[in-house]
Amino acid sequence: MCGIVGGVTNKDITALLLEGLNRLEYRGYDSSGLIVLSRNNTFERARSVGKVKNLEDNLKARDHKINGNIGIAHTRWATHGEPTINNAHPHISMNSVSLVHNGIIENYAELKNDQLTKGYSFSSETDTEVIAHEIDFAMKACSSLISSVQLAIKSFSGSYGLGIISSKYPNQIIAARNGSPLVIGIGKNGNYIASDQLALLSVTKKFIFLEDGDIAEIKIDKITIYDLDGNLVDRPIKISRLKLGETNLGDYDHFMQKEIFEQPQAIRDTLESRISNDTVLISAFGYEAHEAFNKAKQVQIVACGSSYNAGLVAKYWLEDIAKIPCNVEVASEYRYRRPILLNDTLFVTLSQSGETADTVEALKAAKKINSNITSLCITNSPESSLTRLSDLTFLTHAGPEIGVASTKAFTTQLVALALLTCSISSLKKSINKRQERGIIHGLKRLPGLVNEALLQEKQIENLAIRFKDKNSALFLGRGTMHAIAMEGALKLKEISYIHAEAYPAGELKHGPIALIDKNMPVIAIAPNDDLLVKLKSNLQEVKSRGSQMIVFEDENSKVQQMEAMEVIPVTSNLGRITAPIIFTIPLQLLSYHVALIKGTNVDKPRNLAKSVTVE
Ligand code: F6R
Repeated sequence: MCGIVGGVTNKDITALLLEGLNRLEYRGYDSSGLIVLSRNNTFERARSVGKVKNLEDNLKARDHKINGNIGIAHTRWATHGEPTINNAHPHISMNSVSLVHNGIIENYAELKNDQLTKGYSFSSETDTEVIAHEIDFAMKACSSLISSVQLAIKSFSGSYGLGIISSKYPNQIIAARNGSPLVIGIGKNGNYIASDQLALLSVTKKFIFLEDGDIAEIKIDKITIYDLDGNLVDRPIKISRLKLGETNLGDYDHFMQKEIFEQPQAIRDTLESRISNDTVLISAFGYEAHEAFNKAKQVQIVACGSSYNAGLVAKYWLEDIAKIPCNVEVASEYRYRRPILLNDTLFVTLSQSGETADTVEALKAAKKINSNITSLCITNSPESSLTRLSDLTFLTHAGPEIGVASTKAFTTQLVALALLTCSISSLKKSINKRQERGIIHGLKRLPGLVNEALLQEKQIENLAIRFKDKNSALFLGRGTMHAIAMEGALKLKEISYIHAEAYPAGELKHGPIALIDKNMPVIAIAPNDDLLVKLKSNLQEVKSRGSQMIVFEDENSKVQQMEAMEVIPVTSNLGRITAPIIFTIPLQLLSYHVALIKGTNVDKPRNLAKSVTVE
């Protein structure tokens, strides 16, 4: 989603703002802009539509350089108003206040009407401009920038992460957070703000993570933070474990490709220190996990997108193996329902970013419905909103995922969910020691198995050409493979813009089989499991309707090769836990290569953003 970066330094800030924007571009990117306070305390602003590169070119083309020691910048993912220069941030009010904003101000129409009567005019269609005007108006009654922001903020409903500067108070940035992530970076030459630590890694590893309601006054030598009630608060300084190099492409052409190939290591890192003597260390989920898992009588999983698909796999595992009832629901629906939440529920949120607004709000809603539930978040982002709101946290150690399409975050979530299943199963004695050892051995084999699956890349690349002129594709699987088929279809949709649907193979004859003809490629997943015989007859049904098929199988499944059917053995001897993780790999590779053939922007597909921090 949108990105914010800013700083107060003793050096020129423009280069750092641009570098930060480039690092944030993966989050949202239909336009970008920056503003600095020049030496004579006037605003100098540049905004461009499209990539950050366009903003760089815009700056280069100017007669005089934009520079100063205080500045803020933004990459925008349009919510209110199209991607135009006027709608791009930073916005300015009366040449006194300028700001960048992530989030949505829900009562902006009402505020706008009020501000029009006060003589303010509007140059954009955004919900953000009202914030600038409201602060400018508050400045008339207040004696500092921070008190003006504190006053103005009382009128907003909605979510915001804000970076604010003023020509009247030229030595500071005000940062405010409510529902949109914001960090303060503490550097040698100054202090900074950003919506994501990644933006500031070249200047600092020391961060303060603001909490909802916090408003901070950031000067070159001093940071003061207040909570929403105006009380001074002390937020700890944390040292980031992220490395700058992790966010570079290295020898790869795309981040998605790099992240697909990083999966063996990401899985190894996620398993590390979580297993001892062939037992899952339950404390990996938090000190209170043992008691919470023992107490749990049902599991409710809530997530979005790929994370939701991972949750669907876990439902099979938790019910089949741990023998505990499990529901899975998309967060955007869950948050607005009045669901029944029993006391002994383990409420699990899954989120790569830990910041997805729907998932965060679903967790808040769940806690309101029943405060006795125990919440666990499985996330790739320490210090995220979800980790702060949850009783228990399990961090997947996938490393930064920059490509918009989730790959290593998804497979490491599955690893985390497998560890959860194993923990609950062994606590509830739904599996014996030998079965637990079997699961753990399977998990330890995963990095090697993923490497084997990656070896099929050339063959998959050759098949990708078949999708060049196709408008639609169907993914089939049964059991956990239906969820993996959903993940495969989501990947193909988002990066190649080909419509794709996933169906449980047995459901096809109840309607969708009508769609099948030679123009509808069908991709099926055939693990060697109890449903293989059923799946094979489903494949026959499809085949006899003239479809072009690709079947990814376990070598032992021995799906019969037929005309217009490509059977690709991915690897062999996969079990209930390993199979869904391994069959994800060829589907990722397939969508990646189809996207290359289609010439789409693989890492930054149109209309999508990495972390969806607005509703
Ligand atoms: C798909 C994808 C999205 C995310 C979804 C949830 O490839 O990346 O569907 O999975 O937006 O994001 P997180 O996991 O950050 O909550």
